[in-house]
Formats: sequence, C-alpha cells, structure tokens
Amino acid sequence: MEKLRIAVQKSGRLSEDSLKLLKECGIGVPAGNNQLKISTENFDAEILFLRDDDIPEYVQDGVADIGFVGENVVLEKNKETEIVERLGYGKCRLSIALPKGKKPKNIQALDGIKIATSYPVILQGWLKKNKLKADIHEISGSVEIAPRIGLADAICDLVSSGSTLFSNELYEYETILKSEAVLISGKNISKKEQHF
Ligand code: PRP
Ligand code: ZN
Repeated sequence: MEKLRIAVQKSGRLSEDSLKLLKECGIGVPAGNNQLKISTENFDAEILFLRDDDIPEYVQDGVADIGFVGENVVLEKNKETEIVERLGYGKCRLSIALPKGKKPKNIQALDGIKIATSYPVILQGWLKKNKLKADIHEISGSVEIAPRIGLADAICDLVSSGSTLFSNELYEYETILKSEAVLISGKNISKKEQHF
C-alpha cells in the first residue's frame, strides 16, 4: 500500500500544534528534523513540510493526501479540496486594519481606499458583499508596513494576538473572517481509497 502523504506547514503558527496532533495520533516526527520530506517513526506515512499557501494545491493535485492548514488559506486559494475536520487551534481573524487615528464612521467610508493584503480573493468577496469598491494591492508578506510607507491606506491581514498591528501603529477595524486550523483532503479521496 502507498504511504499516506501528509502536508504540514514548514514553519509558522500552525506547525507546532499540527505536529503535536499527529503525535497524539501515533504519527511521531523525529525531533530536530530539518528535512522537507520525512517518513514517520511508527506509522506508514510521509510528512511533507510546505509553505502553508501551497498546501491546498498540493492536496488538490494529490501530491499530498491530506493537509493541515488554516481555513483562511483554504478559502483564499479556492482549490478542489474538502474540509474534513476543524481542528480548534490556530485561531485567528482576517481583519481590515487602519492606522491609529483614522476612524471611519462606518464601513461605507472605506469605499475607494487602497488596501494592501495577501488575501485578495477573500477581501474582494467581502467588499462585493458589502457593495464596496477598493483598490486592492496584493503583497505576500510584511503587509503591516504598507500604510507607513505610503503603499496603502489600510491593510487586510491575519490578526492573532494583535501585537504585529500594535507595533506598526495600526488597529483592527473590521473582522472579515474568523479562521482556525482545518484538516483538508482531495475531493475524490474516498473514490481513491476504494481502489485499494
Ligand atoms: C500573520 C500575519 C501577521 C501576524 C499577526 O502571519 O501576517 O503578520 O501573523 O499575528 P499577531 O496578531 O499574533 O501579531 P503568519 O505568521 O501567519 O505568517 P504567513 O502569513 O507568512 O504565513
Ligand atoms: Zn503563509
């Protein structure tokens, strides 16, 4: 039988809890591992350590059978995958944040502003739902710096403790999505398993 291939975030907020959960399921990972693909100690599985943003695509394409990833990433990437289970850790929010001192009366006042984000798909969906238009500037990291360097009026990014916003003189204005870690599989995993 082929080994079960499990995709896990290489380094980031979900890595530690995902490996802990796997360990509780009897899928132990050798300590101090630095390899990007490893065979597990006492279970016929391989773990692939990937950039979280790539996990939905790997699972869709069957490169990995299952993946541990944030729901925010699943919704943003919009691949052919299924959420098998919500995992209860890695809780965070995707929020629009503004520079301290900017206090729009309501979300309608956001119409037409420039927003920097790594989540253009989710943000666009939210804007559309609220009949708003904004100039979305997509960047893949260090989004919180954007307003300070004149790149955007606001940002839309993940907030967990809020300390990144705080250090960058921003505040959480509006939450557009609540997220947590989820387990995903390909859409045809049950069909695939029937072949074994
Ligand atoms: C997120 C986000 C913020 C930070 C917020 O990045 O981009 O920078 O976490 O967390 P805080 O509110 O606790 O300060 P993440 O660690 O998920 O990395 P990634 O977006 O590069 O995958
Ligand atoms: Zn990421």
